[in-house]
Amino acid sequence: MTPYAHIVGWGKCVPERALTNDELSEMVDTSDEWILARTGIQERRIVGEEETTLSMSLHAAQQALEVAHLRPNQLDLIVIATVTPDHLFPATSCLLQDALGATRAAAFDLSAGCTGFVYGLGIASHLLIAGVYRTALVIGAETLSRITDWQDRATCVLFGDGAGAVILQAGENEGGILATVLGADGSGGELLHLPAGGSRYPASHRTVAEGMHYIQMRGREVFRFAVRKMPAATQEVLQKAGLSIADVNLLIPHQANQRIIEAATRALDLPPERVYSNLHRYGNTSSASIPLALCEAADEGRIQPGDLMVCVGFGAGLTWGAAAIRWTRPQPVPTPPLRRFLRRLLYLLATTRSRLRKAWRWLNALLTRDPMAKDGRKEQ
Ligand code: UT7
Repeated sequence: MTPYAHIVGWGKCVPERALTNDELSEMVDTSDEWILARTGIQERRIVGEEETTLSMSLHAAQQALEVAHLRPNQLDLIVIATVTPDHLFPATSCLLQDALGATRAAAFDLSAGCTGFVYGLGIASHLLIAGVYRTALVIGAETLSRITDWQDRATCVLFGDGAGAVILQAGENEGGILATVLGADGSGGELLHLPAGGSRYPASHRTVAEGMHYIQMRGREVFRFAVRKMPAATQEVLQKAGLSIADVNLLIPHQANQRIIEAATRALDLPPERVYSNLHRYGNTSSASIPLALCEAADEGRIQPGDLMVCVGFGAGLTWGAAAIRWTRPQPVPTPPLRRFLRRLLYLLATTRSRLRKAWRWLNALLTRDPMAKDGRKEQ
């Protein structure tokens, strides 16, 4: 057993394209005033045609590995929390494992709505603390713009795209992920869901015509749930870690609505300067929102070694979760150009390796007699 799981690297990726409230007000019956007053959002990032959850995850992961001074083949585990994987299967994390050249890593995706990243932190840190793995990459990544109904003003003003990654490493030094709490209440599943595309309602003309492949949400009810759960989960995780709200240097809440963040801040009696928000720039990026905020807080020097941080989220499921984290990593120094070049070479090798494996598989299929075909002949 190694008693601690530390965050040793972090990285993020957001698409270049920013969609402003004014632009949205030309698409649906809304206004900058309404969106700003009701949500706090000013703009959100939207992927370009070629970008996906995988491509953003890859950039975020590469940055995190650079900060951690680790090579992809040192990863034991890759977890991507997402409700917008590139495909239903294979898992986006497996495609990332291949793209990174993380040849030793196990990989799986995790679906826990906007709480996904906190779920990922909880699971990965426990695997590290139990001694199963030494190094894990945990990502929250979403391409929500692809499941948003751009004619529904109640939802399209809220969501955005992005990815954030952290690398967890087992260590003997005190700190890192001190405690996590995770919860679920499926009775509220229909409050926030994507009805079709799974085995219940597979894609059909009807599901497309009825808009069942878009996010559907009962906003007010989710709002009430969030305002109740965020402070409760924060208190619970602090209690589990043997700490109190007075010990918290920075709260990183799920970035869904500034009014929810402020209500939680008041309920916890936290000064606003100890609560991080970048919602105005990115909107709600679901499972990417906490790691995106964490990365920016770390890069801005808002978290210093020794500080206590709490990440707390809520979302579809319904789910909720919180993680109490003692930050142990100093600000990273910029990577020297030679090391940057070597890293680029490493990723080029990963691409080449992937292509060669695909070519070998193809060749192998051509040259090897199909054992099923042989069995079939025997039966005849
Ligand atoms: O990550 C977890 C996912 N989701 C959330 O966290 C969302 C939680 N909920 C919320 O953030 C809020 O409920 C919303 C931002 C979604 C909505 O804010 P609200 O203050 O709860 O508004 P509302 O739904 O009660 O709607 C108030 C009015 C309605 O008009 P009427 O019926 O009062 O005439 C809506 O039709 O605002 C109208 N409205 C809009 N007006 C202009 C709804 N959306 C818009 C819009 N622009 N985009």
